[in-house]
Amino acid sequence: MKIIETNSYEELSRIAADLVGAQVILKPDCVLGLATGSTPIGLYDNLIARCKDGTLDFSAVRSVNLDEYCGLDGSNDQSYRYFMDTHLFNHVNIDKENTHVPSGLAADLAAEGEQYDAMIRELGGIDIQVLGIGLDGHIGFNEPDDHFTGPTHEVELDPSTIEANARFFASIDDVPRSAITMGMASIMQARKILLLASGANKKEIMDKALFGPITPQVPASLLQIHPDVTVICCYK
Ligand code: GLP
Repeated sequence: MKIIETNSYEELSRIAADLVGAQVILKPDCVLGLATGSTPIGLYDNLIARCKDGTLDFSAVRSVNLDEYCGLDGSNDQSYRYFMDTHLFNHVNIDKENTHVPSGLAADLAAEGEQYDAMIRELGGIDIQVLGIGLDGHIGFNEPDDHFTGPTHEVELDPSTIEANARFFASIDDVPRSAITMGMASIMQARKILLLASGANKKEIMDKALFGPITPQVPASLLQIHPDVTVICCYK
């Protein structure tokens, strides 16, 4: 595991864009695993700038996102599809047909999960997976549990996650209670992982995840056994 601690969010975002950008240059039709949340927004801003100045070409890139709320369709401004469109896809030359976000509207979410994992396998697997981290150590929406989750599946959100994400909604009652997320197995199969953490409030859980025991009570701790993880963090 390589850990890069930066002095600013801007530096974190620039280095993250260097790594994701290098992947796109090395393999123009790579599969990017993407994340939502406030942390990767600076990374996406950098990727947009590099696409606009001609440094990066997304025309052959494929993408898969980690997760989606249940019950929100892509036109809902709190859905993760909407987030990805507005923060990245609408501003780079990626073919929207090549961008994938699990559907939280599927009638059969177990079947949707199986299809999503099969789709990732058909794409050839994820070359680099971007991750943020929740205050309870969740990645994607894999919440603390008594076992590590496997494939893409439906989850009930923890009260602490609902509370943390309420800032994006009109009221806490509007936050969906469940989501569909890539499981830990789906995430761990990515060839490379880029974990981003920003803010003083993330330091405690990051210390647990990176240096504490590997336990499903801190889902991100499983990353300790992945062979190719880069962490970029800024605790200021
Ligand atoms: C949500 C997302 C996660 C994200 C987390 C942290 O719960 N499902 O993928 O990592 O929020 O978000 P933030 O980066 O805003 O702290």
